[in-house]
Amino acid sequence: TKSLRSMLACAVFLAVPTAALSNDLLEEAKDYFEPIPSVVPSVKNNAVTGDKIELGKMLFFDPRLSSSALISCNTCHNLGMGGDDNLETSIGHGWQKGPRNAPTVLNAVFNIAQFWDGRAEDLKAQAKGPVQAGVEMASSPARVEATLKSMPAYEVAFAKAFPGEDSPISFDNMAKAIEAFEATLITPYSRFDQFLEGNTKVMNEEEQAGLQLFIDTGCASCHAGVNLGGEGYYPFGVVEKPGADVLPAGDKGRFAVTQTADEEYVFRAGPLRNIELTAPYFHSGKVWDLEQAVAIMGTSQLGEDLSDDEIKKITAFLKTLTGEQPRVDYPILPVETSETPKPEL
Ligand code: HEM
Ligand code: HEM
Repeated sequence: TKSLRSMLACAVFLAVPTAALSNDLLEEAKDYFEPIPSVVPSVKNNAVTGDKIELGKMLFFDPRLSSSALISCNTCHNLGMGGDDNLETSIGHGWQKGPRNAPTVLNAVFNIAQFWDGRAEDLKAQAKGPVQAGVEMASSPARVEATLKSMPAYEVAFAKAFPGEDSPISFDNMAKAIEAFEATLITPYSRFDQFLEGNTKVMNEEEQAGLQLFIDTGCASCHAGVNLGGEGYYPFGVVEKPGADVLPAGDKGRFAVTQTADEEYVFRAGPLRNIELTAPYFHSGKVWDLEQAVAIMGTSQLGEDLSDDEIKKITAFLKTLTGEQPRVDYPILPVETSETPKPEL
């Protein structure tokens, strides 16, 4: 048993990096990354109140915002599955397959702009998109307003959330309420957050080595800040363009937003929080394996063929980014009346 004990001691010694090294790494990491705050962040031009959050939650789960009355935000941004749909590209109205992978709504409030190409300035601008998109919810502002106005419980909830307004039920206010709810969808207390707060012991040696590689190889130059991404735009394929199997030629990213030739195939650096929960990866959703996604980033963004060992370590680090998932009580939704528009399939 003595030798067993010394073996164990040895294993512990191997697994726990020395405190001094960890502290250096911590100081370095603090230059790049920030922890997720433990309180709900404020959003621009939209006070986040309890009544707005409650209403926004109802709207997020209400399939009657779609013309089929079947598809809610939660269909594609499932809050029980990391805030996305785990499909290659989303399925929306009439079983249509959309062009892009659904990003998570978790921590989206920390991104500088929304969508893979950043075409929506913020979450309130974003929320108006899917409701109207033909391949998503296929509704219209008029239909949504008619639907919400047909249900007395929504009249009450909107009046509470937007006090003093003459006609609180509007498409704009729908978007504001959803934005307020989304501000609550944050995932603090990941092991990486705890590390950043100074508890270096929560990350083991492999994970810390992965973090060191993430910084040293250059991942952190594009994936930094609170969300380790979501802050800037870069060509997908800075060094080497991935094959059409991963980067389909039809989707030119920010080019469609800015019409600038040098923005062809430019996308927002993906936010990496909770990345282990949100396969498949990239805007095309073509890559199911996180290690493979890391390897592709190495060649496409850094011109570096990372070794298997490096890929394993970086992936182990990325898995420390899984935070405490928001616990959401499923809302009881307002009952329909004879005025409520009928589902259109
Ligand atoms: C993107 C929220 C409905 C599929 C997003 C983003 C947010 C969001 C915040 C941007 C995330 C980011 O850029 O990091 C919502 C809300 C919805 C809704 C509040 C309800 C009003 C849906 C539905 C579908 C869907 C029903 C599937 C049919 C997608 C896809 C993207 C996206 C594919 C990426 C689109 C692109 O980048 O061009 N959504 N979503 N969403 N959502 Fe939704
Ligand atoms: C996407 C990791 C380096 C820019 C991603 C994704 C991962 C990742 C896992 C997929 C996100 C998702 O699907 O939700 C890494 C790692 C890196 C690295 C581990 C270092 C080895 C870089 C660098 C840049 C960059 C240096 C900028 C020059 C991007 C962009 C996307 C992305 C633009 C979105 C690609 C798309 O359109 O689908 N990264 N990344 N990454 N990363 Fe990186």
